[in-house]
Amino acid sequence: MTRTQTPAALAITRRLRRLRRTPTLRALVRETRLSADMFMLPLFVCEGEGVRREVPSMPGVFNLSVDEAVKEAAAAKADGVPAVILFGIPTEKDDVGSTAADPEAPVQTAVRALKREVPGLLVMTDVCLCEYTSHGDCGIVDGDEILNDVTVRHLVQAALSHAVAGADFVAPSDMMDGRVGAIRTALDEHGFQQIGIVSYAAKYCSGFYGPFREAADSTPQFGDRRSHQMDPANVAEALREVEIDIAEGADIVMVKPAVPYLDVLAKVKERFGQPTAAYHVSGEYSMIKAAAERGWIDEPRVMMETLISIRRAGADMILTYYAREAARAL
Ligand code: PBG
Repeated sequence: MTRTQTPAALAITRRLRRLRRTPTLRALVRETRLSADMFMLPLFVCEGEGVRREVPSMPGVFNLSVDEAVKEAAAAKADGVPAVILFGIPTEKDDVGSTAADPEAPVQTAVRALKREVPGLLVMTDVCLCEYTSHGDCGIVDGDEILNDVTVRHLVQAALSHAVAGADFVAPSDMMDGRVGAIRTALDEHGFQQIGIVSYAAKYCSGFYGPFREAADSTPQFGDRRSHQMDPANVAEALREVEIDIAEGADIVMVKPAVPYLDVLAKVKERFGQPTAAYHVSGEYSMIKAAAERGWIDEPRVMMETLISIRRAGADMILTYYAREAARAL
């Protein structure tokens, strides 16, 4: 004989909805929080004065001359964003990226100006050759091969020039083998023991960098970056990359891009427990902007949901073009 269950006979012992009833309760049991002090704002610094040129594929992101970069960083600081990471857009490019280590180039000049004019701002610099080479590749090339060890020597010079200018951290994003150790050794030898290294440790060969390459004018003229950036299919390899960079002296390790690689981020944080950054990259930002422009999604909501996801997966800090907007919303 079958019995029909009446509501009174339902014996549900676990009612998770009880804790979702009111905003107060939801806040009490919230597991993850964002705060502005975990955001870092990327800035693209170019030559000239009074330049504030919007990147077409990244609404709200600009190529800034040094004076404008100072204004932008000061405004970001006022919004509660504690750190910036600088990318250079030089006018002079050659096949070995000579201006990457030029003390008068935009990044080095901006570092000095920011340290002078925005007290307390944490200043990091991206270290790579792709913005400085005429061919747009991340290193010194011989035919279609990027020469690892020769490139590392150039990266070391670039990193040193950033340190001399006063950067707090240098962030090698090139994915050459051995660069973290080489930069650490050179910094120490030159008395920069206090300058840290944020390593782009697990950086994938990603289609999501498209808008950045427009912003930084760094699209490779031939080939792609598969010989040094990681295959999106791999995760064990990401853990090896991170392990090696920590051993070589990285203070902070980064996973990049962020949302398509949240599994990698979670594993890196869980396995190593090191200060871990995630880079919410240009394409991730532009996709949200584009959908919002069409009215297809609610931008503030999707922005916050995205950032909290990155945090929940294990990021201690987030590099994002949304840093100011998100800081203001918090
Ligand atoms: C290389 C570098 C890139 C990004 C950060 N550093 C571009 C690349 O590897 O092609 C991408 C950042 C973004 O897409 O927002 N200097």
